Amino acid sequence: MTSPEHAAGATSMRTHLCGDLRSSDIGKEVSVCGWVGRRREHGEHLAFVDLRDHSGLLQCVINNNVDVRSEFVVRITGVVRARPDGTVNNSLPTGEIEIGDCEVEILRRADPPPFSIDDRANDVDENVRLQYRYLDLRRSRMQRNLRVRAKVNSAVRTAMERQGFVEVETPMLVPSTPEGAREFLVPSRKSPGEFYALPQSPQLFKQLLMVGGTDRYYQIARCLRDEDLRADRQYEFMQLDMEMSFVTQDDVLNAVGEAVLSAAEAVLGERPPEIERITWHDAMNRFGVDKPDLRFGMELMDLTEVFVSTEFKAFAGAESIKGILVEGAASEFGRNQLDKLTERAKGIGAKGLVWLKVTEGGFESPVAKFLSEAEAQMVRDQMHASVGDLILVVADEWATTCEVLGTLRNDLGRPPVHEGPYRYVWVVEFPLFVGVDPTTGNPRPGHHPFTRPHPDDVDRIESDPLSVRSIAYDLVLNGWELGSGSIRIHEPELQRRVFAALGITEEEADNKFGFFLRPFDYGAPPHGGFAFGLDRLTAILAGEDNIREVIAYPKTQSGADPMTKSPLPVDATVLSDLGIRVLPQAD
Ligand code: AMO
Ligand code: AMP
Repeated sequence: MTSPEHAAGATSMRTHLCGDLRSSDIGKEVSVCGWVGRRREHGEHLAFVDLRDHSGLLQCVINNNVDVRSEFVVRITGVVRARPDGTVNNSLPTGEIEIGDCEVEILRRADPPPFSIDDRANDVDENVRLQYRYLDLRRSRMQRNLRVRAKVNSAVRTAMERQGFVEVETPMLVPSTPEGAREFLVPSRKSPGEFYALPQSPQLFKQLLMVGGTDRYYQIARCLRDEDLRADRQYEFMQLDMEMSFVTQDDVLNAVGEAVLSAAEAVLGERPPEIERITWHDAMNRFGVDKPDLRFGMELMDLTEVFVSTEFKAFAGAESIKGILVEGAASEFGRNQLDKLTERAKGIGAKGLVWLKVTEGGFESPVAKFLSEAEAQMVRDQMHASVGDLILVVADEWATTCEVLGTLRNDLGRPPVHEGPYRYVWVVEFPLFVGVDPTTGNPRPGHHPFTRPHPDDVDRIESDPLSVRSIAYDLVLNGWELGSGSIRIHEPELQRRVFAALGITEEEADNKFGFFLRPFDYGAPPHGGFAFGLDRLTAILAGEDNIREVIAYPKTQSGADPMTKSPLPVDATVLSDLGIRVLPQAD
């Protein structure tokens, strides 16, 4: 069957795309265009070439005196015929046919490529791939990924419009604002010494769109953040950004869920089930992370009660004691690996790690002798342990215990992000503040300072800020944070209280966000919103575990573009026009 996206392949130079021809086309004279892939000589007079375009490969039988080589651009006209018995290639959609009696027109000769474009050559160094990205893009994997991306964007756009959201573009040259990450600055030629910033997100502008009566805004927005790059992070990335007025959390989650599930359905052909919810506290308690991967078990089990009156010093008096069970792993983990796990736990802040191998008679463990018989039995019961299992236990403050075991759980059990089944989950009720700034002693914002405190906790902003929950929520897929959002503060009085708790004085607030806050005095509607990373969603739906694979021109891990060689120095005269002098860099 010809897929709809290929149906538009015919042009004045070709009748079909390479990958669209099937045995139902046998007997037709066709013209196809593309790049020459592998060539195999066949007997004295003939050669087979694989012709490639974005839709796939097509075998063409040509006269072997035609000089076409790898990556030549050609137009081939010939007749579709069945491949002889025994030469059918079932792994290729066009594998039952070939083009015979070919007339070959060379449209462009080509230098030999620096690496094979063949999909089977998948060990090419990433720097080389990115240096020659235009060649890398010729591979079917990359063409497929670009199309998955376009499908995600299109489905998301359609879902937002269906729900009455209006697309509005917000500026790329914005004032520097505090949103967590470092900003890219843009010097102003007209005002030397003054700078714009590139937007980390359209956050402030979208909220002002609500003050402006837009009601439902969305944008497929480019965001820029100068942060350390990783598999799920680039300097530039795309968000589906949205904001809505006169809403509660449920309205936002439903609208976003519709967009995400529509995108998944467009790519995978099946709509995922409704997205489940978990509170931040439960996520931490059960999975030890705020982005739980629900594809596997190994949940954190509480053992605090078991050890309330323990004699074992390492556990005595600990605020929280929890364990994870690694099924059947006792024999797999030798002393060396257990030492490594302990080091890993300490690296995350644990004071130590207790390991218990479950045996017929009790536990094999260096600390077995410190546990009473009753404690040992209760641990086995709580953990649902069987002989041959490995139990890892941490005792510490609640947050540390959760974080350490959550990290070990992911280390030991987490499959690669793109492997099914896809498990979406909303994490709700994030804390309004997380931790305390060690220099100022002030709490730090969990999301951003405009996040609405939970109505049940708002009275504790001054007295016990770290216990205050917020109406902030994340969407998580297979352990990756897809997106974040919140209901916002729309009352200047409440905003002032949150700023005060963060240690931001009225004067500072006015200097930093005056342009944003003053409009709220003119009547801001209750509003909230969300943004999710389109690169991340696309990567997972495309079966990739790195967003670079779904971005046409990404930066390397070190932030460079090997194709254009950027970043690059610029002429001294250009800098001087901008009023900029580059200081010598310390090594
Ligand atoms: P936040 O900062 O959580 O929220 O970002 C939302 C989502 O954007 C994606 N993302 C990234 N993707 C690739 N590379 C990056 N460097 C990167 N940084 C973020 C993630 C993330 O979950 N304005 C708020 C949203 C709101 O409150 O409405 C915001 O930007 O998928
Ligand atoms: P120690 O008494 O410090 O020698 O520790 C005895 C054993 O308990 C060692 O295996 C430590 O790794 C472990 N341990 C110590 N403190 C903790 C803790 N807070 N949580 C879990 N295990 C611990």
